[in-house]
Amino acid sequence: MSTEAAPERDQSPPTLTLCPGGPMIVRGDVVVQDEDGVRHRSHRGVSAVCRCGKSALAPWCDGTHKLLPGGR
Ligand code: FES
Repeated sequence: MSTEAAPERDQSPPTLTLCPGGPMIVRGDVVVQDEDGVRHRSHRGVSAVCRCGKSALAPWCDGTHKLLPGGR
C-alpha cells in the first residue's frame, strides 16, 4: 500500500478558446462526445478539438485545418 498522497486535481471547470480558422482549445479535463455518441476523454492539460471536420484524429485536431482555405 502506497503512503503517497494522490496528486491534487484542478477542480475548476475547463476553459474554451475558439481559434479563428482552427480548433477549439480546451484547458482542463474534458470529454467530447462525437456524432456517433462515442465519448473521448482527455486528461491532458490542454487539448485541441477539431472544428473543421477534416482531422484524421477526430475529435482532436491534427493540424489539417492549416491546409484548408482560411485555415491558420
Ligand atoms: S481544426 Fe484542426 S484539423 Fe480540424
